[in-house]
Amino acid sequence: MQKNIAVIRGDGIGPEIVEQALKVLNKVADAYSHTFHYDDVDMGGCAIDKWGDPLPEEMLKRCLASDSVLMGSVGGPKWDGVPGHMRPEKGLLRLRAGMGVYSNNRPAKIWPQLAGASPLNPSIVEKGIDFIIVRELIGGVYFGKHETEDKDGQLVATDTMSYSEAEIERIGRIGFETAQKRGKKLCSVEKSNVLDCSRLWKKVMHRLADEYPDVELSDMLVDNCAMQIVKNPAQFDVIVTENMFGDILSDEASMITGSIGMIPSSSLGATTCGLYEPIHGSAPDIAGMDVANPIGTILSAAMMLRFSFDMAREADAIEAAVSAVLDAGYRTSDIMPADPAQAAKYQKVGCSRMGELIIQNLA
Ligand code: IPM
Ligand code: MG
Repeated sequence: MQKNIAVIRGDGIGPEIVEQALKVLNKVADAYSHTFHYDDVDMGGCAIDKWGDPLPEEMLKRCLASDSVLMGSVGGPKWDGVPGHMRPEKGLLRLRAGMGVYSNNRPAKIWPQLAGASPLNPSIVEKGIDFIIVRELIGGVYFGKHETEDKDGQLVATDTMSYSEAEIERIGRIGFETAQKRGKKLCSVEKSNVLDCSRLWKKVMHRLADEYPDVELSDMLVDNCAMQIVKNPAQFDVIVTENMFGDILSDEASMITGSIGMIPSSSLGATTCGLYEPIHGSAPDIAGMDVANPIGTILSAAMMLRFSFDMAREADAIEAAVSAVLDAGYRTSDIMPADPAQAAKYQKVGCSRMGELIIQNLA
């Protein structure tokens, strides 16, 4: 098969982690006789520097013309001073909206080899951590009105959140369908004791539930959910939630699996052209040092093969290679145990070495 992949290296550690994912994709292309064409697209802080815009129209067009987009990370302190509508992150939000990728899938799964890296009590980890957060990605407060006004000599900031029934219904369906393919348990997370958006959310989820009788639907308030994720993560199969709650809960969920550096994500809308990115940020403090963990990006590339290109065998092979490298005891610094006696059992490697090891283990 031939596929065109738009590649956004972005800022901070973005270029180094994306480089490793491309090495892995090239190896897959060789091994399975595919051709991947890459189109380098500027987005984020680097695009602000080069073009004066975090996502020039032309770059968005190139993403829309691709079969899928693979992205590293954007942002950094260098652009902290730029106005809100021109921030690197705004480029990412415009890309998500422009591609119409409303459904963001963020797995929280503990690799057995990394059980010791979880900050949770082993008695909790033993019960298993394997759930998915389905996050609504192009609505809510992220895309509401944002303004700061001077009212009688005092600055007043306003951000508005709004959701339509249609927006809730389409992400709700993804939640139910995801649960149908897994453990058939869907937890809808909201703040219906305070927010109108959440009361509508809950109503729509319950209306949909009639169409998915094989899925057991439950509701949970977001503050309680934050607590339950650390107290008893084994209770979750699929969580469906709105944009900002999903942003926050997915960082929390990643931490209990050991490291945010391990977690990939897929974002899809009405077509198979998806956006694939690790859920972590650009980590400017370690950028260019060859110490970042490329696994989240490599697994995002695997998700791209699985969900957008229908290449399940190839995706399985990448995941198996990651597992083999972890089995062999290689760790980037973020997944090294903190305890020196434990750490002595593992071999610390940098970003590019981790990429090479994964390639060597690709069957
Ligand atoms: C994420 C990130 C983004 C978000 C930022 C970079 C805009 O935190 O993908 O989780 O908030 O969605
Ligand atoms: Mg986030």
